[in-house]
Amino acid sequence: MKAILVLHGPNLNLLGEREPEIYGRVTLEELDRRLVEAGQALDFEVRTRQSNHEGVLIDALQDARLWAVGVVFNPGGFTHTSVALRDAVAAIHIPVVEVHLSNVSGREDFRQRSLIAPACQGSIAGFGWRSYLLGLYALAEEKM
Ligand code: DQA
Repeated sequence: MKAILVLHGPNLNLLGEREPEIYGRVTLEELDRRLVEAGQALDFEVRTRQSNHEGVLIDALQDARLWAVGVVFNPGGFTHTSVALRDAVAAIHIPVVEVHLSNVSGREDFRQRSLIAPACQGSIAGFGWRSYLLGLYALAEEKM
């Protein structure tokens, strides 16, 4: 069965309790459950991973190139700062979809730039937890 990695960056372990008016009330556990279920319906194995640490996220991206057909990635705050994560996305030859719960375009100036997005196949933002679902559908549709 083809596999997809769903990778969550820093502070996303606090989903549900962290600024719920911006990020929603769905917990990370519930989000992951919904994505695994959506993957099953599409005949894809969805593996999920969260880390608050840049190096762990880089390791997870590098590792995914060995077993996944693509990655749905929310880099959290690293979106706006991390050259190393951008380089990791560019280094692996599987498509990465950048996703954000919030509509980053409508937020603070420092969120207007993504260092990661240019290395990704595409980006989806502003649909809450469903941004991940749309990212998963986009990858699965392409890799079916
Ligand atoms: C986020 C947006 C980022 O700017 C922020 O730092 C996050 C979450 C989102 O999903 O909306 O941690 O990636």
